[in-house]
Amino acid sequence: MTLRLARTLLLSACAAGPLAAAEKVPEAALEEARKASSELVTGVRSELLKAIDASGPLRAIVVCKYTVPEIASALSRKYGARVTRVSLTPRNPSLGWGDAWEQKVLMDFDERVARGEKAEALEHAEVVVEPAGRYLRYMKALPMQSPCMHCHGPVEQISEPIRQQLAHDYPHDKATGLALGRVRGAVTFKKPL
Ligand code: HEC
Repeated sequence: MTLRLARTLLLSACAAGPLAAAEKVPEAALEEARKASSELVTGVRSELLKAIDASGPLRAIVVCKYTVPEIASALSRKYGARVTRVSLTPRNPSLGWGDAWEQKVLMDFDERVARGEKAEALEHAEVVVEPAGRYLRYMKALPMQSPCMHCHGPVEQISEPIRQQLAHDYPHDKATGLALGRVRGAVTFKKPL
């Protein structure tokens, strides 16, 4: 291959964008991914707000630590998919890191917010071929909203008891310092096609 041809191919690959979908996403699979994601968002939100109202944000940490992974696990069983939450700056290194595809989508979400798009409107779906087969992969951004600020906002705005509890439970926490409207992470859905 000549150098010029290689350069042209490289440029056209970049022009197509890192997230260019190769295959059309089946509508029914996309609808299912949207439904599962919205069930996760609604379930987490209602448990979190209930706990904050009943016992305050410090006690609500328990909801994020134990109840949310249970909800995600129940939805994964129900849909036969991997349904969970990931972030570029996770609090829980076991559940919170995204894989390479998820990191790419999260970086794209951040760029789109920086260009002025609303975080709550961001989603991305793609058919991805992996060594074990074809998967529908879907992500829906989770924006920083006011209740999130108790535990993910700028450190100086987080109350001392919450700061201490988070430092105790998550000594490698990367999930603070975010402003309202930024992308905190995303729901991710992955199911074999
Ligand atoms: C009461 C404190 C608290 C509040 C309020 C809170 N979170 Fe969290 N969040 C946590 C904790 C604790 C974890 C780690 C859970 C675990 O151990 O898996 C977490 C984890 C996450 C994760 C998974 C990735 C990671 O960092 O490990 C996402 C995404 C997330 N939170 C988004 C949000 C959003 C969006 C809001 C607002 C709607 C919110 N959180 C409100 C405490 C909180």
